[in-house]
Amino acid sequence: MKINKIEKIKGILNLPGDKSISHRAIMFASLAKGRSVIKGLLRAEDIFSTINCFENLGCKIVEKNDELIINGMGFKRFKTPQSPLDCGNSGTTTRLISGILAAQDFNSILFGDKSLSKRPMKRIIEPLMLMGARVKYSNDYKLPLEIIGGSQLKAIEYRMPVASAQVKSCILLAGLHIDEKTIIYESQPTRNHTEKMLALNTNFVDGNTKIEVSSKNYPVGKEYIIPSDISSAAFFIVLALCLKNSELIIKNVSLNNSRTGIIDLLVKMGGNIEIQRKENIAGEDFGDISIKSSNLKNVDIPKSLIPNIIDEIPILSVAGFFAEGNFKINYSEELRHKESDRINSLCENFRAVGCSVEEYPDGFEIINKKSNQNALIQSFNDHRIAMAFSIFGMISNCQIEIDSTESIKISNPEFYTQLKQIVS
Ligand code: S3P
Repeated sequence: MKINKIEKIKGILNLPGDKSISHRAIMFASLAKGRSVIKGLLRAEDIFSTINCFENLGCKIVEKNDELIINGMGFKRFKTPQSPLDCGNSGTTTRLISGILAAQDFNSILFGDKSLSKRPMKRIIEPLMLMGARVKYSNDYKLPLEIIGGSQLKAIEYRMPVASAQVKSCILLAGLHIDEKTIIYESQPTRNHTEKMLALNTNFVDGNTKIEVSSKNYPVGKEYIIPSDISSAAFFIVLALCLKNSELIIKNVSLNNSRTGIIDLLVKMGGNIEIQRKENIAGEDFGDISIKSSNLKNVDIPKSLIPNIIDEIPILSVAGFFAEGNFKINYSEELRHKESDRINSLCENFRAVGCSVEEYPDGFEIINKKSNQNALIQSFNDHRIAMAFSIFGMISNCQIEIDSTESIKISNPEFYTQLKQIVS
């Protein structure tokens, strides 16, 4: 795919549903006994992986008039899967469903694609085993995993060793099947959609977020309304900021404050971004965002912000490339465990466009910003790398070619169509 420089963008965009909330809505609707209706669901490969897994566990899921209708199974009523559960490329599907499967009475096997099979699972295996789950895994703690059913799970108190909403949610979903209270302490807050959607009790205690869950929080059938994904919006926000004479409005974007770090940071960098309207449905904030061309300056990125912006770092580094001063990020070792090793993927590609880059174990710095050559970008089959460098190519004078844009279907299959709508 060749990407050409564009002059400006203008318009109003409606983007697809939030990926994290979409996964959870399908899971909670499948757990609940009875009917749920999901509006605004993301239609993308990762979400299809979650849908397929729950269909394989016996759930009836149908699409009608743009809504997803799920007839949920009820407490511990899933059926023995007909075949191993295919989680595709999706870490969220794998880690969250593991918490649910640990509490069922049957055995299940989880597997995924090449990228997912390289990602760490020890982080969920350990707390699940502390809860009494039985898991069969290979020496390297990677997929495939076999979760043995029929275990009597027990409540635990758990201090999160990594800042991970997926691990936290895995434990919370297992905890939903236990009468006693499971308690999690998080020293670095991560996205809190599971807590909001299950209306869990959370408090701030001695610098930690304390989250409590028990079978009392088990979901019931209901209507879910999903706002647009701020992680998908971030690509368009950066494009509008970095091009001259551009103006963009993105409607109904999720503004949950465990996800809005990217907006705060871009505003700190000098970005002209305004929230025009803010509403709240079922605990989740959302609203319209207006963005205008701006002169950006790089700023320090504090450690405390990293979990909040973890998925936006690829596109943030593109904004950092076009901003005044050097772009530098640290404290982001977790990026090495995403759909690709994103620190390495970003360094390789900034080098390919002509920059000098210093790579650290937990981040990188773009030292000499140059983009005067033709560059072949490697997506590393990672959707956020392919989209970040598509945006790069639309802003820079560099002739960009991307080896493959296939992976974009993981989170936003309509990405290029949406771009065409606003190029003027
Ligand atoms: C997600 C949590 C994050 C994020 C991922 C989605 C979620 O992963 O990177 O894209 O929906 O809980 P970690 O929690 O592993 O950091």
